Amino acid sequence: MTRLASAVVLLFFASVLASAAGSRDLIGDILRLPSEASKFFGRGDDAPDQQDDGTVGTRWAVLIAGSNGYWNYRHQADICHAYQLLKKGGLKDENIVVFMYDDIAYNEENPRQGVIINSPHGSDVYEGVPKDYTGEDVTVNNFFAAILGNKTALTGGSGKVVDSGPNDHIFIYYTDHGGPGILGMPTSPYIYANDLIEVLKKKHAAGTYKSLVFYLEACESGSIFEGLLPEGLNIFATTASNAEESSWGTYCPGEYPSPPPEYDTCLGDLYSVAWMEDSDVHNLRSETLHQQYELVKTRTANDNSGFGSHVMQYGDVGLSKNNLFVYMGTNPANDNYTFLGENSLRPSSKAVNQRDADLLHFWHKYRKAPEGSARKIQAQKDFVEAMSHRMHIDQTMKLIGKLLFGIEKGPQVLNAVRPAGQPLVDDWDCLKTMVRSFETHCGSLSQYGMKHMRSLANICNAGMTQDQMAEASAQACVSAPSGRWSSLHRGFSA
Ligand SMILES: *[C@@H]1O[C@H](CO)[C@@H](O)[C@H](O)[C@H]1NC(C)=O
Ligand SMILES: *[C@@H]1O[C@H](CO)[C@@H](O)[C@H](O)[C@H]1NC(C)=O
Repeated sequence: MTRLASAVVLLFFASVLASAAGSRDLIGDILRLPSEASKFFGRGDDAPDQQDDGTVGTRWAVLIAGSNGYWNYRHQADICHAYQLLKKGGLKDENIVVFMYDDIAYNEENPRQGVIINSPHGSDVYEGVPKDYTGEDVTVNNFFAAILGNKTALTGGSGKVVDSGPNDHIFIYYTDHGGPGILGMPTSPYIYANDLIEVLKKKHAAGTYKSLVFYLEACESGSIFEGLLPEGLNIFATTASNAEESSWGTYCPGEYPSPPPEYDTCLGDLYSVAWMEDSDVHNLRSETLHQQYELVKTRTANDNSGFGSHVMQYGDVGLSKNNLFVYMGTNPANDNYTFLGENSLRPSSKAVNQRDADLLHFWHKYRKAPEGSARKIQAQKDFVEAMSHRMHIDQTMKLIGKLLFGIEKGPQVLNAVRPAGQPLVDDWDCLKTMVRSFETHCGSLSQYGMKHMRSLANICNAGMTQDQMAEASAQACVSAPSGRWSSLHRGFSA
């Protein structure tokens, strides 16, 4: 055959493939392509490392659920789901560090003992999840030590850390409640944005990764990176919400699609299930971080019901041209399922504000319990306690603002939002001091109270001193309420 003839054959072959791709063989909402064709059209070979050959880099992951309690079922369900996804993608257990309180699977409220699901028809995601850091070992200190690969800094747990080298890729996924500049933990203290950023800078300075991807679900999660995560650390981060809004739970009772009727709790979070349900079904060699970001952004915002949040990206956005494969591997069973824009969007369940998901749980528990039963009385008590804690925190914070800045100016100062690109607070030690002053006199902020972190930050930004804050807190709270949410038995959240 002459050169010309073989070129013509090649062209012909290419056009046949192109028309085959044109007549998309759609199965459900997924594009099906012969794997040979997807190879022919390129499997994202511009990715920096193709690690199939095992020569370049190891994939590491740190997965962390920041909550406990059955009403927070969804966060640990998210984490377990992420583990299964990475495991199917080919990551080894020795490279996946899991932080979860582990009080869900065998919780007396759990209708399927020993099983955790992350969607209404989902199968068990709990089986096989490594129990690296559970219960009281789910601490900020251990989380940071695990990222840094510093075994001597650990207390308790399996001792597994990200023992990574310069060619490795790291994926960190956190899901829980948060607030401006803060992420919750099932133990005290919580995670402060500046400390997390310091850890990431330290990891970068140690030269022990090539690139790092951080997926973050929490209320006001944008505030963790906004104005704080510099470029040049080879870190790409996406967050469930911007710096000023809630993130959302999904597959909640009473919504559609709803959990099986025996569940009184949300099964997942909107941003989290969006990325995982996308990664679950595709050949991740052919989908980039950017494509997933766009898809998750659309699904998380586009809820047709006024629910949802703005998914954001931070850091080295250029990294998002990398394939998901670089961080998550890929499930060989999905080799023929190529990412295809809007067709990958699944309908979402209506969503519930993260901060109301506990009330929703107590409410459904109350509603379903038999009249006059101990269970009904308990659920009512839980609901009332949670509500009165909220009112106490909200009213106290307002009052402190008025005591510090006057009746007119108080609410203005507390509610002020800095322009995009600026961090929440300039002096993080001041913020922590204010948190401790507040909690000393008024009781724990706890999960719900994290929403007031911006007010406390603004008190610092306005130049108030610790003494002024202590005095105002003492005046606002003659005594701390005795309810369990206000209890400081776990220590300060800062
Ligand atoms: C590891 O942690 C220990 C204890 O916190 C600390 O003294 C040490 O400097 C850390 N090592 C590195 C390399 O950061
Ligand atoms: C992908 O498609 C090819 C060609 O049809 C087939 O031989 C292969 O088994 C499929 N792979 C998977 C994982 O389904």
